[in-house]
Amino acid sequence: MKEFDKIPLGIYPTPLHRLPNLSRELGTNIWIKRDDMCGVALGGNKVRKLEYLLADAKKQGCSCVMTTGQAQSNHAMLTAACARRVGMECILVLKKRGITERKGNQILNYLMGVEVIFVDTDSYDEIYREMDRIASERGIKYYQIPCGGSNELGSLGYVDCMREISQSGVDFDYIVTACGSGGTAAGSVLGAKIYMPRTHVICSMVDSDPFDVIVPELMKKAAKLLETDVELPVPDLLDMCGPGYSIPSEEGNEAIAMMMRQEGILLDTCYTGKAFAGLVKRAREGYFKPDDNVLFVHTGGAGGLFAQDWENMEL
Ligand SMILES: Cc1ncc(COP(=O)(O)O)c(C=O)c1O
Repeated sequence: MKEFDKIPLGIYPTPLHRLPNLSRELGTNIWIKRDDMCGVALGGNKVRKLEYLLADAKKQGCSCVMTTGQAQSNHAMLTAACARRVGMECILVLKKRGITERKGNQILNYLMGVEVIFVDTDSYDEIYREMDRIASERGIKYYQIPCGGSNELGSLGYVDCMREISQSGVDFDYIVTACGSGGTAAGSVLGAKIYMPRTHVICSMVDSDPFDVIVPELMKKAAKLLETDVELPVPDLLDMCGPGYSIPSEEGNEAIAMMMRQEGILLDTCYTGKAFAGLVKRAREGYFKPDDNVLFVHTGGAGGLFAQDWENMEL
């Protein structure tokens, strides 16, 4: 397979361990892959993608990166942290949506001293045009990272993660991960097919975009980049979005409470709580056998947890 340049940013392999209490409760072997502990800021899945994207930015001679997301975007915060680590300028052009005050990830953006520009729009196309305008006004050559870092190059980060898991010494029957912009899901399904063809990947969708089109499309493009001709499986997409993207769901909050109260591990309301709720749902439906090994990929997101208004929420 073809290889692409990466800048080492995270500490890999991330820890992988069994969750004894949840295994007992859910009647199967539950494991967790700690990509939340990858060593950059509060950790998270975006770092694997950024290893490829920032290498590409440097190769193209860009000293500035711009990316986007909502106000509390974990991806934007991690782009800022990774850019800082490799000495690149970073401008976050964010949607003026969600919690824009200096809370959660906005505290971290502030502490890292990156420029944050809010644009009052629902359209990412408009935001990308705004980035071009900023760059031409300032005369800078910049590298544009799409929302979530979810293009084919970024997705390769999760092909790597699957290789890492395949070397863990545990034979996994199932892997469960979050799907928010599609890159993690696409890389995971493709990577599992390459390195662990027996392992089935379940993608918990936390947004209502047409992932049945987005994820296969990204998988196809990533497979083309790698020059692999593995047969691409149809992704198993589970709708865990609940009342809407970034709006806490009852199942998500129950999953957060389970993980925190039984294993002492933080999940967030936007991504990992809902993603883990997908695993809980399947377990309760009797989908897993008692001796199956089921791996939950913890994709980070702690920053958003501290932006949430917990005064008015009950677990
Ligand atoms: C904590 C966390 N988990 C999961 C995801 C979803 O990953 P992807 O955007 O690759 O689908 C994100 C995306 O922003 C995230 O921040």
